[in-house]
Amino acid sequence: MEIKTVGVVGCGLMGSGIAQVCAQAGFDVIVHELNDDLLAKGLAKIDKNLSRLVKKEKIAEADKANILKKITGTSDLLRLKSAQIIIEAVSEDIAVKRSIFRTLDEECPPETIFATNTSSLSVIEIAARTNRADKFCGLHFFNPVPVMPLVEVVRTITTTDATFEQAFAFAKKLGKKPISCKDNSGFVVNLLLVPFMLDAIRAVENGVASIADIDKGMQLGCGHPMGPLTLLDFVGLDTTYFIANIMFDEYREQRYAPPPLLKRLVLAGHFGKKTGRGFYDYSGDEPVAAL
Ligand code: 3HC
Repeated sequence: MEIKTVGVVGCGLMGSGIAQVCAQAGFDVIVHELNDDLLAKGLAKIDKNLSRLVKKEKIAEADKANILKKITGTSDLLRLKSAQIIIEAVSEDIAVKRSIFRTLDEECPPETIFATNTSSLSVIEIAARTNRADKFCGLHFFNPVPVMPLVEVVRTITTTDATFEQAFAFAKKLGKKPISCKDNSGFVVNLLLVPFMLDAIRAVENGVASIADIDKGMQLGCGHPMGPLTLLDFVGLDTTYFIANIMFDEYREQRYAPPPLLKRLVLAGHFGKKTGRGFYDYSGDEPVAAL
């Protein structure tokens, strides 16, 4: 089966990036959001990102128009049934993900491949509620999706070789550099990255150094493009809190336990860059430490 059309469920931070890279790679894309308002916001993100590429002379204005033409937005989930592969990128809520895939499973042709962009839930737990667990895999992208080259292609205990190989080849067609991994919570990157970011929060809690110096330490000492607390704000503290809880639940190991300070920031509604405040305050020209 040749993939011509890609369905993307969710047009938030990750979904909009996925829709963009699929369209840039020449696929037709149908992207779903819950309502017209969310859809407009998601499509505006793609427009802004493509304008950035035009400004940097990486693509021409005409290319931008052609890429945008390849993307159709909808609030009707069933419009995605003409796609050969559907990638879900909604929030880390197992009930929501299962419900989306159950609905799609009933309506889509049996050969359609289903993929979830989950970062921490077990893929099989979502796949098992459909009648196509053999055609189900994980495709885990990284933020910002248009920039980060990695996609983790996740094979569950029921994913067939054919499905895995098609998904892997698809990720390559997007211009990404895929790696193969098992369906364990956090896959490869979050398994290592999440405890590192949580340790940075514990360092703040213990007064080891200031927020700015912890970040500076990892940037200048280890060559990281962003310090861990800036990265936390970038990924989203709410998202990290969800992921840490899921991983702690899976492994029952202290290093995945969300520190109390993370919980407090989330309870306060300080989710990081997207809300204007997290470990840093983003209201001025430059971010300043907020704690
Ligand atoms: N969307 C699209 N493109 C973006 C972008 C965005 N949000 N932010 C930056 N870019 C592009 C810029 O246009 C620029 O492109 P160019 O090199 O072609 O000109 C390039 O990225 C570099 O941008 P800048 O020079 O403006 O800024 P930086 O050099 O500071 O780079 C960064 C920004 C690429 C975000 C870099 O800081 C970085 O790599 N940070 C780490 C990101 C990371 O670790 N991501 C993984 C998060 S974990 C995850 O996603 C898993 C999930 O499950 C939690």
